Amino acid sequence: MKSICLRSPAKLNLSLHVAGKRPDGYHNLSTLFEKINFFDDIRLTLRKDKRIRIFCNWPGVPKGPKNLAYKAAQVLQKDFQVSNGVDIHIKKRIPIAAGLAGGSSNAATTLLGLNRLWRLNLTEKRLVSYAKQIGSDVPLFIYKYIWCLGAERGDRIKSVNLSKKTWHILIIPGIKVYSNEVFRAFKMKLTKRKDNVNILTRALREGTCEKVGGLLSNDLEAAIVRVHPLLLRIKNNIEYITGLKVCFSGSGPSIFGVVKSEKEAKRMQSILSDRYKQVFVVRTL
Ligand code: C5P
Repeated sequence: MKSICLRSPAKLNLSLHVAGKRPDGYHNLSTLFEKINFFDDIRLTLRKDKRIRIFCNWPGVPKGPKNLAYKAAQVLQKDFQVSNGVDIHIKKRIPIAAGLAGGSSNAATTLLGLNRLWRLNLTEKRLVSYAKQIGSDVPLFIYKYIWCLGAERGDRIKSVNLSKKTWHILIIPGIKVYSNEVFRAFKMKLTKRKDNVNILTRALREGTCEKVGGLLSNDLEAAIVRVHPLLLRIKNNIEYITGLKVCFSGSGPSIFGVVKSEKEAKRMQSILSDRYKQVFVVRTL
């Protein structure tokens, strides 16, 4: 095998509860992830020498160890003394620093692909432990689950048994938001908000999309808008235009809502596109 092509999907956080700060400086989370049909394409090509090279259609994407896919290749190559290298071609569609975990998904996809290309035969468990070293959003993409819960740093993943496919409107404001800045600005409320992930999961199983939309929540919202106040205006404006309750994904700036049909989502997309450059209609993977 000389080359492998894989799709690397994005995620949304339908609910994100921050339970507290950890001794390692990270935060304990309880979050409901949904993988969506918004992809980067990754092609991994075997090299005879040991070089690892990144090629990407987006200029801002790092080509060295700052790129999480590069990191994934580097750590496997070192630990298993692989004598080959790899060319990693990333066709990007998922914007970077958008709260959609595009870079983390690229890293997980690279781990999965190199496991085959370099014939490492690693178990899912081993791959997850490598994924955890690379970033807290990486393990989720090692698993095939579409809906899952993330606990601890968001990297302890449990499958959620849901067959639901949901349509979304997804708006990506052109502001880069860095998770470490948002978590630094996060303040724990004195009266702790309840984790509504179980209620939300039940609503996804039984409820209408209005009910699901009403239950979207993200504890990082106040911190996101403290770092980037313009994002609150954008979110409010989207709610005003669409009449939907919308929510930030992860540490933002991506904003999404739950819509009852593709037709309705496309109608909203056409209205929002007059105001915002990056408006997408997406659905559960
Ligand atoms: O794990 P990752 O590199 O994606 O995290 C980026 C930053 O987000 C971390 O450096 C940390 O500041 C913050 N973070 C956190 N708690 C989490 C996940 C991320 O504080 N559960």
